[in-house]
Amino acid sequence: MDPNPISTGKILSPLDAATPEQVAARFGELRKQFDQDTAGATDENGWKSLRDAWLGRKSGVLTQVTDTWLKPSKPELKRAVGQSLNELKAHIEAALESRRVAIEAAAEQSVLAREREDLSLPGVARPLGSRHPLRQTFEEIERIFLSLGYSVVSGPEMETPYYNFEALHIPEHHPARDNMDTFYMAAPQGASPLLLRTHTSPMQVRTMEKQQPPVRIIVPGKVYRRDNPDATHGFMFHQIEGLAVDTDITFCDFKGTVEYFVREFLGPKIKTRLRPSYFPFTEPSVEVDATCVFCGGKGCNVCKQSGWIELFGAGMVDPAVYGFVNYDAKRYSGFAFGLGVERLTQLKYNINDLQLYFQNDVRFLRQFA
Ligand code: DAH
Repeated sequence: MDPNPISTGKILSPLDAATPEQVAARFGELRKQFDQDTAGATDENGWKSLRDAWLGRKSGVLTQVTDTWLKPSKPELKRAVGQSLNELKAHIEAALESRRVAIEAAAEQSVLAREREDLSLPGVARPLGSRHPLRQTFEEIERIFLSLGYSVVSGPEMETPYYNFEALHIPEHHPARDNMDTFYMAAPQGASPLLLRTHTSPMQVRTMEKQQPPVRIIVPGKVYRRDNPDATHGFMFHQIEGLAVDTDITFCDFKGTVEYFVREFLGPKIKTRLRPSYFPFTEPSVEVDATCVFCGGKGCNVCKQSGWIELFGAGMVDPAVYGFVNYDAKRYSGFAFGLGVERLTQLKYNINDLQLYFQNDVRFLRQFA
């Protein structure tokens, strides 16, 4: 309802009263009219129109009452008119104020109702990420070697041929250089080219160059080879190099460390064996085998019925390497190993395709949560 002052026009006909009772009656009508108008003011805009209609200075009802009833009234009624006008004004002001408070409260209630949260609704389940299986292997291996007193170090993925080959006793025309199909970077004429390291072994040399024994480090990191990607190859994969050099390190220490590591990583039932092998930077060199994790050593497809699977390469550091880093080969001895992180993860979780690690398919990844 629009509280338009027009609605009071009829009432504002001339006062036309002879007694104070008649005055009171006319004011009573106005008050009734105001109360009716008030009931229709249910929001802020309605309230403002109501206020302007009744209290507006120029043409509000009270101004009209003052001009057309009070001012021209007979002297004997002036007092009654004035008093009634004051009472009406007080009533209007009080009513407007309580109306305003009510409207504000109602508006706030409706905002609250609109924004109300239903705490009993089920939440939106956000899928949690998990650590990548390779990252989990890194962390597990780091844990094992940290507990043996090793430190974790890292080195550049871009290497010089000196660190990647030369100082590891792999001379220029050695076939080992061909085996590790290497990514070379373009180099300015005359400058020796940089390459992407083909293994983490260069960090053996970089570490020993900087530090005299005792040395106990592992080096986790990425390595690169020019291989076409398939189930067992990638142009990038991960290794963890290990190196321990000190006085009196023997082959027994080496064997004990390797066995301890394999049991910690693959479980107490796993047995290891060392098979003679060849690496230019170790002498003697070995392949570390473990009893097949899939058949327990009985023989299956994975281990080609042998009961054994190949884990990683290792050996006693070749004294020739000490020559590159100014270590006294008569005084010091040590061992090194190079773990393939993809391979160890594959064996632990029975993963049959290397590419799965790098495709970021959640159906694969969420199995390692
Ligand atoms: N660097 C070798 C490779 O990438 C792995 C390796 C073998 C590392 C024997 C070693 C080691 O430290 O002693 O194939």
